[in-house]
Amino acid sequence: MKKPVLVVTSRFIKPIDARIETEYDVRRKTDGTLFTHDELLAASVGADAMLITPFDRLDAEFFRQVSPSVKVIATYSVGIDHIDMRAAAERNIAIGYTPAEVTDATADIAMLLLLGASRRAFEAQELVRSGEWTVPRAGALLGWQITGKTLGILGMGRIGQAVARRAHAFGMKIHYSDRHRLPEEMEGDTVFHADPIELLKVSQFLSLNAPETEATHHFLNVKTISLLPQGAIVVNTARGGLIKDEDLIEALKVGRLAAAGLDVYEGEPRLNPGYIGLKNTFLLPHIGSATIESRTNMGMVALDNIDAVLNGRHAPSLAGV
Ligand code: DGY
Repeated sequence: MKKPVLVVTSRFIKPIDARIETEYDVRRKTDGTLFTHDELLAASVGADAMLITPFDRLDAEFFRQVSPSVKVIATYSVGIDHIDMRAAAERNIAIGYTPAEVTDATADIAMLLLLGASRRAFEAQELVRSGEWTVPRAGALLGWQITGKTLGILGMGRIGQAVARRAHAFGMKIHYSDRHRLPEEMEGDTVFHADPIELLKVSQFLSLNAPETEATHHFLNVKTISLLPQGAIVVNTARGGLIKDEDLIEALKVGRLAAAGLDVYEGEPRLNPGYIGLKNTFLLPHIGSATIESRTNMGMVALDNIDAVLNGRHAPSLAGV
């Protein structure tokens, strides 16, 4: 039987690539580089489906030109900010994503950032690895304890809630802001702020867990930073575009903020070099969902989404406009 044609823009872990190769007639680049806009359009001709990642930007122009043979595009991510959803809907192309599969792994990384930033993990690592840790230093590398402090969470979806559960177990008080208030039975002792500005005012620690949209783009900027308590600590596992980098870097430089933990960057994999020169940044290379479990489940669900659409079945997770 003829296999459906699938355009694949990345390499995945073994079980995912094995399933791809078994079930599809695969089109992918062999040199490991990303598809350009034009290459992706050319690859779409006669293809039934595409499996992409957040490094592929599918804008309105892409959807105007993409081959009519393409029925479904699955992204290997919970984030869909790289896809013009309205344009996809106009072309009647289903968009699959992986909303449930990244939650725990990403929330774990938010905690790693929170602890890494607050306990000055970068400087501590440097001291050990450079061989400069030669005398006991009782007064050195003092960080900021998270117990009893207030954590503000912007975006209380699956990942925000998972961060809240973890931080609660560390003795933090949880405040949050989201377009939707949690139902009473889920809210527990967390405090809701309809206005994110009010959230900022109480956030000794701030975790960004909202998707990047027009409304959240550069949410953290010189103005909003000025509302945070002096010496606040910011962590971001959502999208780099939520932060105006120059403003955060300046606030970290002058000590307005104590530290930042970042896993995502605007324009990644490039990042503003200003972050690198600072000791009070704890930086990771977008590894939020990078566990064997999470990445396996993401790949399987992405492929389930494609299978289901191509075979006229109910797909596990399609994103709406
Ligand atoms: C996601 O799933 O959106 C994560 O950020 C990984 O890209």
